[in-house]
Amino acid sequence: MDTRRDFIKKSTIIGAALCLPVSLTQECIAAYPDLKTRSPKKVLILWYSQTGHTYRYAKLIGCVLKSKNLEVDICEIQETDTKILTGYDFIIVGSPVFYYDTPDNVIDWLEKIPAIKGTPVAAFVSFGGPEGNQHNASCHILKILANKGGVPVGRDAFRNIPSYPTPKWDSANQKSGEHLPNAETFNQVRRFTEDTLTRISHNETISISYEIALREGLRALPLIWLNKKAINKHSVDASKCIGCGTCIRQCPTKAINPFKQTVTRDNCLACFGCLNNCPADAVVMEYRSQRLYGFPEYLKRNNIRIMEPPEFKTCT
Ligand SMILES: Cc1cc2nc3c(=O)[nH]c(=O)nc-3n(C[C@H](O)[C@H](O)[C@H](O)COP(=O)(O)O)c2cc1C
Ligand code: SF4
Ligand code: SF4
Repeated sequence: MDTRRDFIKKSTIIGAALCLPVSLTQECIAAYPDLKTRSPKKVLILWYSQTGHTYRYAKLIGCVLKSKNLEVDICEIQETDTKILTGYDFIIVGSPVFYYDTPDNVIDWLEKIPAIKGTPVAAFVSFGGPEGNQHNASCHILKILANKGGVPVGRDAFRNIPSYPTPKWDSANQKSGEHLPNAETFNQVRRFTEDTLTRISHNETISISYEIALREGLRALPLIWLNKKAINKHSVDASKCIGCGTCIRQCPTKAINPFKQTVTRDNCLACFGCLNNCPADAVVMEYRSQRLYGFPEYLKRNNIRIMEPPEFKTCT
């Protein structure tokens, strides 16, 4: 029988193997079109965000670009008409990583955008854990943009405190990321923005290369389905609900109806957007019979204040 030490050793080796990228493979986009401009004037930053992290980075990127006298629009993906994309000469897309990839609703939206031939494009993701497959999630966004004729000039991933609810909010990623984003994260965002502009001015592109790690195999699992199996209760507490409609706006699939206290489980993506945004603690979710509570409540109970970049004081 294995001793405790053997068990720990084996677990460490298996864990490390799952995390290690075993090779890099180049995405086959034969050649990009020529850049339509080397000095962009009008920039569109598109974002999707459930708990504010991605939005924070989108705003900071906007501040950096505005400080260089560029005209910037910052738009929520789901509220944006895809047709407007053709009117910009630089497009940046930001999304959180959900279930080891870019969320389905973001992918579906991007698949519908019109041709943007020659437009420089960049992608960034916000994520909650170092092994969360963030590299490939951001490449997924870039690949779709490149298939529409966009020319990739930047890609990055910014780590922050995860907003994935567990009953005690005590996963290893939660603990190790509790202090993030910090000043270094914001510097990374600024560098990402500056570097993309430099590449555009030098007519440089980046390649889209997927990391093939064993953990990639996790994406083959029906993660959302498995999670939904573990969520044994998902409804609305009528006695607490104040009818604000936030959960309806946050739900990417219109699965929740707070007025009927129902959730259409078949449509639900288990994204926790309803739970994580309800201001009245009225969304009832149980994970393996343990009550979940949302991200703002977790921050409050643990006295955590998320750092904001200093630019927000002056940049409108
Ligand atoms: C449903 C769900 C799934 C998640 N899956 C991952 C993941 O696979 N990898 C990861 O690094 N972070 C994961 N996270 C953490 C988020 O990526 C992270 O909290 C992100 O910054 C949230 O961005 P937002 O505040 O803009 O919504 C997940 C969070 C949620 C709510
Ligand atoms: S009902 Fe499901 S899909 Fe809609 S916000 Fe809640 S968890 Fe996400
Ligand atoms: S977010 Fe909460 S309070 Fe607002 S309608 Fe939904 S369940 Fe009710």
